[in-house]
Amino acid sequence: MTELNKIALKIISNGKGILAADESNGTMTKRLDAVNVPSTPENRLLFRETLFSSESMKDCIGGVILYDETINQSVSSGKTVAESILESGAVPGIKVDTGAKVLANSVEEKVTEGLDGLRERLKKYYEKGARFTKWRGVYNINKFHPSKLAIHSNAHALARYSALVQECGMVPIVEPEVLMDGDHSAEDCLSKTSEVIKKCFEDLILHKVDLTGVILKPNMILPGDKSKDKISKEEISSKTLECLKNSVPKEVPGIAFLSGGQSEIQATENLNLINKNNNTDFIMTYSFGRALQQSALKFWSKDIKNIKGTQNIFNHRAKMCTLAAQGKWSSNLENK
Ligand code: 13P
Repeated sequence: MTELNKIALKIISNGKGILAADESNGTMTKRLDAVNVPSTPENRLLFRETLFSSESMKDCIGGVILYDETINQSVSSGKTVAESILESGAVPGIKVDTGAKVLANSVEEKVTEGLDGLRERLKKYYEKGARFTKWRGVYNINKFHPSKLAIHSNAHALARYSALVQECGMVPIVEPEVLMDGDHSAEDCLSKTSEVIKKCFEDLILHKVDLTGVILKPNMILPGDKSKDKISKEEISSKTLECLKNSVPKEVPGIAFLSGGQSEIQATENLNLINKNNNTDFIMTYSFGRALQQSALKFWSKDIKNIKGTQNIFNHRAKMCTLAAQGKWSSNLENK
């Protein structure tokens, strides 16, 4: 077993999942504005420290993805955020892309930037304690998209990023997110997501990335949020499994889904069924942002000093997600 494979397995084994707390300052400001909390560095840290010092960090959370601001902050004990996460038993990770920008010669499609100077930035993050990283490519579905140009450009960037990350001794999370926005069917989501993921792995292999030291972070296969196509939870799980079975090389140890705008319960329920029906050798877990933090953030915003109350809500959510990552969740557990 390579060191990278060991890190990947430590993050995602035994029902553990990833807390995606890597919202950029822009995104975090939108989230805090929505609950009327001023978006200051201190408040962003306070909310995150509340989560990172929760009980569930030990049993449920295998890794935390941080944003650049947070990895450079220290918690109230004086330790750095990365040290405090490590102490809780989870692995600190870091988002290293610099965001999705308009792709030249495309109509409103995006390519993710951040490769220039990446090797040097990675070395600094490694010194700060990060052992895994994230890069998100983003695609939308409509009559013309995702175009070949967007699929190729993002796959190329994800592959170059992954190779550099592994060179630096860290595990890359490869996140090609096909967005839920739109009126497309689940069948469209299945075919486009499969095409996107296959191209990513084609490029990862071309760039000699060690696939045993990679975690894939995909979307689940769902109809668009404005689609008339209503499908059952069974179909969501079977289509998601079909996509991954046919597009992901078997060397990849695990898959950690993003929640992508699903509610906390929807994301948990779908993950649970995917695991119940999992007919692959891949570990299937979560790497949720909103579906882990939404209720906790809402509660916290009412009284930002209520650490215990906020942690209780977060602990419950993390526990439910961890049960779902083992196919052991059921809706009656939500009210206990
Ligand atoms: P959501 O779970 O809120 O989609 O966020 C996951 C993530 O990290 C997106 O890049």
